[in-house]
Amino acid sequence: MTLSSAPGKVYLFGEHAVVYGYPAIPCAIERRAFVRVTPRDDSRIRVVAEDLTLDGFTVEYTGGTTGQPDVDVRPELVEAAMGYVDHAISEARDAIGVTDVGFDVTIQSDIPLGAGLGSSAAVTVAAIDAATRSMGTPLELSELAERAYRTEHAVQDGQASRADTFCSTMGGVVRVQDDDCRTIDAPGLPFVVGFDGGAGETGELVSAVRALRDEYGFAAETIEAIGHLVDAGNAALAENDLAEVGRLMSFNHGLLSALGVSSRSLDEMYWAAREGGAHGAKLTGAGGGGCIVALDTDGGAITALEATPGCEQTFRADLASEGVRVEEP
Ligand code: PMV
Repeated sequence: MTLSSAPGKVYLFGEHAVVYGYPAIPCAIERRAFVRVTPRDDSRIRVVAEDLTLDGFTVEYTGGTTGQPDVDVRPELVEAAMGYVDHAISEARDAIGVTDVGFDVTIQSDIPLGAGLGSSAAVTVAAIDAATRSMGTPLELSELAERAYRTEHAVQDGQASRADTFCSTMGGVVRVQDDDCRTIDAPGLPFVVGFDGGAGETGELVSAVRALRDEYGFAAETIEAIGHLVDAGNAALAENDLAEVGRLMSFNHGLLSALGVSSRSLDEMYWAAREGGAHGAKLTGAGGGGCIVALDTDGGAITALEATPGCEQTFRADLASEGVRVEEP
């Protein structure tokens, strides 16, 4: 039995544009997915997801995600979660070089599903780590990040960047541009997250942005502008200039909004955080619903978000300097 955990993330800058080869800067946060893996003596995979911040559910299957489990949560979220686990186990089997080993997999996650906090990447990274370790074959971090990326890429129909999976593997603040992935030094960042209780579908939102970019020149220019803004954000981080980082985050939100991936509740939380005195705020992740992240030093944004009807949950999120880690070897 091996228990591994991996952190979720917020995007400071660059989601969506990163899909087209521009840089992005995600940051790992101390909200983790925990995955316990025990090899079986047959080739079956049994997955138990105790808490995906939805009602708990248990699914038993022998591979593939076609069987419709009898559970009390939106089927597409269950299917997506199972798809990630299924592919993660395939990657682990491939890395170990034993294709017919079975596993019992138990997931417990503090990260809301599909809300822009990197739940799928965290589950994927922790699952591959725990599965390979449980067979006595731990992977180097770079290989783990690459295999987790391949999992997301497959499940999201080829519409994934390395940003989430690299960030969850390494922890801290990272800069990702295609396959150039590196950790960067950054000041302490006073993150506040507002969550509207909803979820967006990453694959669909990425496809919608692609269609807009194909049809309208302004969308291609907006994506390019996000790319430039990420470079400016990187420089502001290096100079420890929180006010400028915040300002650039707010510009980034406006550009994402122009691409059609914000929503009424995300915009309401964005404005609440700004009017509450945040250095800046933006939606994080694919959008459509889910979370915003704000930089808030004095707590005013938390108070403002708590008073916002569309905001179901508000919390401070510490930067997770550690990425994937073994909780029980
Ligand atoms: O919503 P999330 O956490 O899955 O983030 C998606 C980020 C995108 O840039 C839209 C897609 C990607 O894979 O980079």
